[in-house]
Amino acid sequence: MKSMKVNLDKRVASSYDICIGYDVLDRIGLLIAKHMPALHYIVITDVNVSAIYGMKLLGRLREMALPADMIEFPAGEDAKSIGTTVAIVERLIKLGADRKSALLALGGGVVGDVTGFIASTFMRSIPYIQIPTTLVAQVDSSIGGKTAIDLPEGKNLLGTFYQPKGVFIDVKFLDTLPEEEMNSGLAEAIKYGVIDSVEVFDFLERNIEAIKERDRDLLEEMIGNACRIKKGIVEIDEKEMGMRRVLNFGHTIGHAIEAESNFTISHGAAVSIGMVAAARISEGMHDFPRRDRERIEHLLESAGLSCRIPQTITTDGIMTRLRADKKKEGDRIHFVLLKKMGMPFINGGVPEAVLRETVEEMKK
Ligand SMILES: NC(=O)c1ccc[n+]([C@@H]2O[C@H](COP(=O)([O-])OP(=O)(O)OC[C@H]3O[C@@H](n4cnc5c(N)ncnc54)[C@H](O)[C@@H]3O)[C@@H](O)[C@H]2O)c1
Repeated sequence: MKSMKVNLDKRVASSYDICIGYDVLDRIGLLIAKHMPALHYIVITDVNVSAIYGMKLLGRLREMALPADMIEFPAGEDAKSIGTTVAIVERLIKLGADRKSALLALGGGVVGDVTGFIASTFMRSIPYIQIPTTLVAQVDSSIGGKTAIDLPEGKNLLGTFYQPKGVFIDVKFLDTLPEEEMNSGLAEAIKYGVIDSVEVFDFLERNIEAIKERDRDLLEEMIGNACRIKKGIVEIDEKEMGMRRVLNFGHTIGHAIEAESNFTISHGAAVSIGMVAAARISEGMHDFPRRDRERIEHLLESAGLSCRIPQTITTDGIMTRLRADKKKEGDRIHFVLLKKMGMPFINGGVPEAVLRETVEEMKK
């Protein structure tokens, strides 16, 4: 198993390890006991993950004589709610959880975000560990300590920055992950290459077909690359005051498209389209090389992701959503654009006409 340390602000207590391996669920029990000693472990998971891996993890913990219980909740973004949060907290209290207990987030980004949020607030905070089971969670959401739940008024409106005690990644979890969920994670993995590392981008270009076939060594390498890049950015800007915002590359137009499609376009597909839009704006406004923009589009297509905006989504609809974002951000939309591959920057002044033209172009 490979590991790397997330070093936060010289506060040793809040630094933690990310460990990555294949078929390492057995070892995860030991790692948990080592990294997060507690009197009571509670696995939090969703019903899908529980059915495949929940009892296995619980069994391992109990074999090691670690007192452990499990709480499951419905799968999907709709469950990332206040209702779910309160229901989990009520179960925690019934199970006798207290400040000497610790939580284990076993699942995708939804489980990770909800569990992290509860861990940061239950009895004024208890420790937790991330055991991510989707590619999105393994390359992105489990690292960096952002936690959140949704409100009827919007996504991620209640949340905290609260770092886990460790992130333990078993690449074997991906064996059972549906293709569409895999593609969402690939969009994020490609993003890291574009914003941070030409080498990582080249690696993905060379290996995308085998990665799509779920070659375990290549998946492990890709996830390791992503974790290394994300941890490096989080180490510099834990609370997203500046540099961490480059991780939102592709997300501004992506979010508008996702919402405008009434969430029929998946987050990964929308981010993919958003990355293409950002690359095209960069080409028009900042001399980002056309050849590199084409490489990005080609890699996303090879990964099974979309580079075009469906005709059913109106340009006006996207523009209205972008304008609403602009109001929230003090009358400027902050786009992450590119000077070169691996060289992103924040631009607060993309003219509306350029946005409109880019969206129209991408509908052809
Ligand atoms: N905190 C952060 O920094 C951060 C970053 C990115 C995304 N997010 C959040 O993450 C969420 C999306 O996460 P996600 O894409 O992992 O979605 P998800 O958690 O909803 O998981 C997707 C689906 O895959 C299933 N699943 C999970 N692991 C599986 C496995 N190994 N085999 C089979 N099925 C499995 C789940 O039950 C679910 O149905 C969003 O709420 C988003 O806001 C947070």
